[in-house]
Order: sequence, then structure tokens, then C-alpha cells
Amino acid sequence: MIVTVIALFVLTVIGYLINFVTKPRYFPPGPPWLPFVGSSTIIQKLTSQHGSQWKAYSQLAKEYSTNVLGLKLGSELVVVVFGEKNVRHVFTEREFEGRPNSFFLRLRCFGKRMGITSVDGPLWQEHRQFTVKHLKNVGFGKTAMEMEIQKELLNIYDYLDRHRSETINPKDILAKSVMNILWKYTAGERIKEERLNCLLDLLNERSKAFSMAGGWLNQWPWIRFILPDLSGYTLIKKMNQQISDIIEETIVKHKNKEIEGSDFIYSFMEEMNKNNETFTEEQLKIVCLDILIAGSQTTSNVVEFALLLLLRYKDVQQKLYDEIEKTIGSNVPSWTDTNRLIYTMAFIFEVQRYYTIVPLVGPRRVLQETIIEDYTIPKNSTVLPCVGDVHFDPLLWDEPELFKPERFIDTDGKLKNPEHFYPFGMGRRRCPGDALAKSFIFIVVVGLVQKYRLEIGNGVLPSMEPVIGLISAARPFTASFIPRA
Ligand code: HEM
Repeated sequence: MIVTVIALFVLTVIGYLINFVTKPRYFPPGPPWLPFVGSSTIIQKLTSQHGSQWKAYSQLAKEYSTNVLGLKLGSELVVVVFGEKNVRHVFTEREFEGRPNSFFLRLRCFGKRMGITSVDGPLWQEHRQFTVKHLKNVGFGKTAMEMEIQKELLNIYDYLDRHRSETINPKDILAKSVMNILWKYTAGERIKEERLNCLLDLLNERSKAFSMAGGWLNQWPWIRFILPDLSGYTLIKKMNQQISDIIEETIVKHKNKEIEGSDFIYSFMEEMNKNNETFTEEQLKIVCLDILIAGSQTTSNVVEFALLLLLRYKDVQQKLYDEIEKTIGSNVPSWTDTNRLIYTMAFIFEVQRYYTIVPLVGPRRVLQETIIEDYTIPKNSTVLPCVGDVHFDPLLWDEPELFKPERFIDTDGKLKNPEHFYPFGMGRRRCPGDALAKSFIFIVVVGLVQKYRLEIGNGVLPSMEPVIGLISAARPFTASFIPRA
């Protein structure tokens, strides 16, 4: 009897292991799968060799001569998609519209499958639509938000003038500025300074510690009990607590009508009062979290990269200044100036191509079995469209390794916005905050070049090599902001 039980147990384990390492029929090519870990160890090794998961996947795709790379990370099927045609396909076809129901995404949302960024189906549709409707009233020269950004620019000037004799790490001021704009839109007020500092530190750590596929914690959630710090679990818990406190505090203020004017939270609360059952306080908290996480570092990192490139390419800085000086003089920059500041806009586009902030977009969950390039992608697989590679594809871009703003200007001197340029993704999950982000980036970059000459800090050129975790970030650098006469 005992022998039979042991034999059955051994057979079951062997069956499980064989099943685990066997790839589904017509699954995309990729490295072999090991029991329990799948391709994770190979990816980890390549990630540390190449500096980012994006580069590791690109390298593997080249090794397997494929534009559709098939992996298993822990027990999750992951497909990384390369090439403009495939990336566009994922962005536009409905079966790729889902988000994985993963531990990592749930953890990010206080253990719930709520909010906008991490959900799909009717909840996603309803709340994305609601948020987009409210974001439509900001950015692209919509006066109220533009005025807020212009006010924020004055705060940046004030900070730079107060630290005139020092070299400055632009991160110290830019990240806070974006956060204040986002919070103004969401909650109608600014975040307290000490709260803000703590929150930004945590967001920074989080972005470095995780990848789009979620890292260890996603593959083996139980690891949090053994290695709570190393797995990033403690970090996320701490960040969630901080954000939760900030949001709860402001909700109370809104309930007591202590905040003046109209903002996202008031609009959301109006829906709550109509007894719309998906409009709950918990959902409100997670949507606020989505906006802060998705909008803060993405936007400030673009401005940081822009400043880094202006320090590295002095001729580009001069060209920008000449154009600004000739076109708007000392007027406060506004979105309407984008039509006239062509070189400046081309520069901002090239910054977003050269340093693609989200090189691996997603993650997306496949809602039903589907096919890409004759490969079968099973239902519920995770798909990561590799926009970083599209932005460096030599078939689409002339000398992609070079930083050349002119590539975005056509022979008639007009700004070009090529179809294969996806800084904000595309399709139904395209970034809903793009107008706000673009307005902030434009007004702040123009405002800084208009008022200051940028010089390298302490004689050290900033590194061109980005740090790529969840999103791309510049390595810390300093600059001197010398007021123009
Ligand atoms: C330069 C700054 C930004 C970049 C590069 C960026 C990039 C992106 C990209 C590529 C996506 C698409 C994800 C996908 O297709 O699965 C996305 C989604 C999203 N972004 Fe942005 N974003 C930026 C700023 C913002 C801002 C300022 C906000 C908020 C005001 C925001 C809120 C969101 C949200 C909520 C989503 C999720 C949309 C959904 O799942 O339906 N982003 N962003």
C-alpha cells in the first residue's frame, strides 16, 4: 500500500514537472524552461549583464531570430513582442486589452483588483472613460491647468534662484513639481513637503526594484514571507501606506468641503452620491494612486533627460535658446507656442525617442487564445510590447543610435510625428495623461532654457547611460543654472 502511494506521488510529481517544462503547441521560440522557475534564471542573468530587462529580452530575441519571444517566468507565460507591425497589432487588437491578474498588480492596488491601470473589463472601461473625461479639461492649453503649470514654473525659478551659487540635481525640484501638478488636478491642493519627499523616495526605489513583469515577487509571491525586504514587498507596503494616508486625509478634507474649487475627487464623490456602485471610496483611492504612480516620474524623467541632453549637446541648447528668444522672447511659454517652436518640439520628441521612458509597455493579458506571426499565444498569457526596440529600429529611423532632433522636422520645416513613434503607447489603453504630460514638459523645458544657460555641475558630464527598471531614469547628475542676462 505504502509503495503504491509513494509510486503515485512520484508519478504525479514527474507528470507535474514534465507538464511545467513542456511548451504549448506553436508557442513562440525562446529559452528552455526549468522546473519551478521557467526561464527566470536566464532572464535574471541576462538582465544583470545588459543592465535592464528590456535589453535582456532584445538580446534573447536576436539569439532566437524572432520578433515574438516566448518565456515562462515562474508559472506565468510571458510573450515579448518586437517590430513595429507586431507592437501595433498588440496596441490595436481587443484581445490584448486585458491586464494580468498578478500578485504584483494586486499588491500595487492594496491587494484589490481595482483602479484603472491594473484592471480590465467593464470596471476599466467605466473608470478610464470617467478619468479621461476629466483629464480632457487639462493640458493642451486648457487655461486652468496651463496656469497651474506656469505657476509651478515660477516655483522652479524661485528654487533655482535661491540655490544660485550651488550646482543642482534637477530631480530635487522636477519630481516635486510634477507631483504638485498631479495632486492639484486630483485633489485641488499641494502635498505637504515632508510627505512629498518621503513619497518620491519610495517611488524611486520602487521603479528601480521592479520590472514590467513584476520581478520575483510576482513569480513566487510566497517569497515575501522569507525575504520581505529583498523581494521589494516591504517597500511596496510602505509606499502603499504613505499614499493611502495622503489620499485618505484629502478625502476627509473634501467631505468637509475644506478644499475650494472643483477637482477630480469632488467629481468622483458626486458619482458616489448618485449611488453608482463602482464609485466607492476604495476605488477612488486606487484611481488616485494610479494617477500618481503613472504620471509622476514618467513626466519628470522626460524633463530630466531633456536637461541632461542640453548639457551634453551645447549646440542643441543654443539652437533651442535662439528659437525661443526669436519667437516668444521673454513671454511666459504656453501650449499655443508649440506651433512656432518647431525645433524645440523636435528636440522634445527626440528626447522621448532616444530615452523611451516606458521601453516595455504593459503588461497586457491576452483575453482569448490568439495568433501573432503564426505563433499561438494562449489565453491569459502576459504580453509585453517592446516599444524601446521600435524606437531604435534602423529600418524606421536613420542612424537611430544618434541623438538628432532634426529627424522630426520635414523638408518643409514642419514638425513630423511618425506613426511608429509611441512614447504614450496607442489604442484603447493609450496614456490618458499625455496632454497633461506634454504641456508640463513643453512649458518647463522652454521656461528653463529661456531663463537660464545650463552648464555642467562640478565639471562632471552627466552619464548618457540610463537606469532602466519599470521606467527609464537618468543617473543622478548636477547642473548649474546660470541666469541669462
Ligand atoms: C511623459 C510622461 C508619460 C509617459 C511616457 C506615459 C506613458 C504611458 C504609456 C506608454 C501607457 C500605456 C500602457 C499600456 O498601453 O498598457 C500609459 C498608461 C497610463 N498612463 Fe501614462 N505616461 C505619462 C504620463 C502620464 C500622466 C501625467 C498621467 C496622469 C495624469 C498618466 C496616467 C496613465 C494611466 C492612468 C495609464 C493607464 C491607462 C490604462 O490602463 O487604460 N500618464 N502611460
